[in-house]
Amino acid sequence: MRANSINHWDIVAETYSEKNNRGRNFNSQIYLAAVNELLGNVKGKRILDAGCGDGFFSLELAQKGALVTAVDSSEAMLDIAKHKHVHDNLQYYNMDLTRKLTFEDKSFDIVVANMLLMDIPEIESLVFEVDRVLKKPGTFIFSITHPCFFLSDWEENENNIKTYKKIGNYLEERVEELNFWGKTLHYHRPLSRYIEAIEKAGMYVSSLREPVPPRELIELCPEKEYHCRIPSFVVIMAKTV
Ligand SMILES: C[S@@+](CC[C@H](N)C(=O)[O-])C[C@H]1O[C@@H](n2cnc3c(N)ncnc32)[C@H](O)[C@@H]1O
Repeated sequence: MRANSINHWDIVAETYSEKNNRGRNFNSQIYLAAVNELLGNVKGKRILDAGCGDGFFSLELAQKGALVTAVDSSEAMLDIAKHKHVHDNLQYYNMDLTRKLTFEDKSFDIVVANMLLMDIPEIESLVFEVDRVLKKPGTFIFSITHPCFFLSDWEENENNIKTYKKIGNYLEERVEELNFWGKTLHYHRPLSRYIEAIEKAGMYVSSLREPVPPRELIELCPEKEYHCRIPSFVVIMAKTV
């Protein structure tokens, strides 16, 4: 199952990178605004970008003065990253984040993981490793698709306006195949499982955001106003003690 979910990312890497458009597509802008607000000033910080994909966000962090270690298990993603998103303060490594990380204890000030945790089959060991490689105090910020709402379709009214979502088996943990960029696997787990993993690792949650698109974005894409009524993402900040 683990190798399988990683292989999919090799196949979709190019399409993902194109559609993501350096974090400028509609969806990315929603959660990245919240991630950046929680990150604050990163100048001089040692940051691990876990599941860095094509590295566009790792590059942004490096350009802001952070010392960035970016890891991903997809060689195809890393190939794109090493061509497109290069900086002296940025190093890329191929690493499976469901296994023990090869970094020393307390190596980083911040670990950031955008859109990774719902893509891996098991989160406890990664969150435990995040706590280990973070300084004390240190910060873990991650964004995920909103577990309550992501897998349910919108219901439309007679005017084709998206009005509500029906939530069915929210509490059932399961794997779903997605097809946004080609086939990838989505590991659904309720929101509480993420919080429990943080608690078990000895960290605590200091912020939880359900970001909606900034007003300027809705002005550009008014047909996507429904994103302001039901959040599509959750961004969580946890601290080590
Ligand atoms: C949705 S993409 C997010 C990429 C990037 N963080 C972004 O915001 O665009 C998920 C990434 O997680 C990576 N990934 C999936 N499973 C992984 C694993 N076990 N170890 C490391 N990276 C993994 C994939 O290769 C992919 O690049």
